[in-house]
Amino acid sequence: MYRLLKVILFRIDPEKAHYITMWWFMAALKIPGVKALFKALFQVKHPSLERTVAGMKFSNPVGLAAGFDKNGLFMHAMSVLGFSHIEVGTITPRPQSGNPKPRLFRLIKSRALINRMGFNNDGVEILAERLRKKRPIGLIIGANIGKNKDTPNEEAVNDYLKCFVTLYDLVDYFTVNVSSPNTPGLRSLQEKEPLTRLLSTLQLQNQKALPVFLKIAPDLTLQQLDEIVDIIIETKLTGVIATNTTITRDGLKESKQIVDDIGAGGLSGAPILDMSTSVVRYLSERSAGRFVIIGVGGIEDYSGAKKHLDAGADLVQVYSGFIYTGPALVKRILAGMLTPTKAPD
Ligand SMILES: Cc1cc2nc3c(=O)[nH]c(=O)nc-3n(C[C@H](O)[C@H](O)[C@H](O)COP(=O)(O)O)c2cc1C
Repeated sequence: MYRLLKVILFRIDPEKAHYITMWWFMAALKIPGVKALFKALFQVKHPSLERTVAGMKFSNPVGLAAGFDKNGLFMHAMSVLGFSHIEVGTITPRPQSGNPKPRLFRLIKSRALINRMGFNNDGVEILAERLRKKRPIGLIIGANIGKNKDTPNEEAVNDYLKCFVTLYDLVDYFTVNVSSPNTPGLRSLQEKEPLTRLLSTLQLQNQKALPVFLKIAPDLTLQQLDEIVDIIIETKLTGVIATNTTITRDGLKESKQIVDDIGAGGLSGAPILDMSTSVVRYLSERSAGRFVIIGVGGIEDYSGAKKHLDAGADLVQVYSGFIYTGPALVKRILAGMLTPTKAPD
């Protein structure tokens, strides 16, 4: 069914296709009986899938990665598809339109995406209002927070703090995003001094000890990863989300010309699975269980999720794999976990 739909959707501009699909999906869910039907089709519940991580009770280990629902518009709809958690955002203090379009590209042969969205979002106040009005029940919601493009890095702490404080009573966990390649200079906040200052400031405000994660790029050197491990432990952060998109262009099946014509942006999807898994494995060995690791990057089936979990991830998240494989992705991963020997992937 999704294969057929994909033929049509993949003829449309990727960003438009995203919103068209979601609006149609949400409209369909309003028809009596459809929500129950989708739940029956796509949700898998089993006690062995449940996980308690950082004090939060997840119905299963698979979540929706940040960027899919930047503004908290699709939380209810996506929960129907079986995700145990949804990370909304990246959200910034003030609304911003992001980079000029087109800014999202498919690399179909590689089952990958390149995006340079640039934190297009409605701003933290509007997201807070949406969460206040209709937060889904029984679903873990994380807020992925960032800074506005025109905020200089020296003042970035204030932007993160504004989002943190505004959403503090409305979400279950926070993710500090310093790893998007599409906000100029953002990734330099991953360096030791600014990162320590940023995380310490947030932790000082963290009265209820809510879980706080750091989302990192897959492009860091081992020395940078070592520094991050030290900082996580020093600032008593809950853990790491590894990884965001990469600025590299390795392992692609499209010609160099096609890839070059797309231009700047972060690469996600199947080609980054090994890269993100390596980061998870390295962090897991270095952390020796002292912090939580959420694995993301290139997971599009049970075997990809298993690679991350075997490498030491406590939970996994997906984005591009969902675009390429469709609404049954979570179900297929969970089915693989329940019957690993018969896994279809
Ligand atoms: C179109 C698009 C937008 C994204 N926006 C965000 C974002 O706002 N914040 C963030 O932390 N990650 C963002 N990401 C990164 C994803 O959350 C994820 O880390 C990355 O895509 C790797 O996972 P995947 O290979 O399953 O897509 C975005 C990814 C895509 C494809």
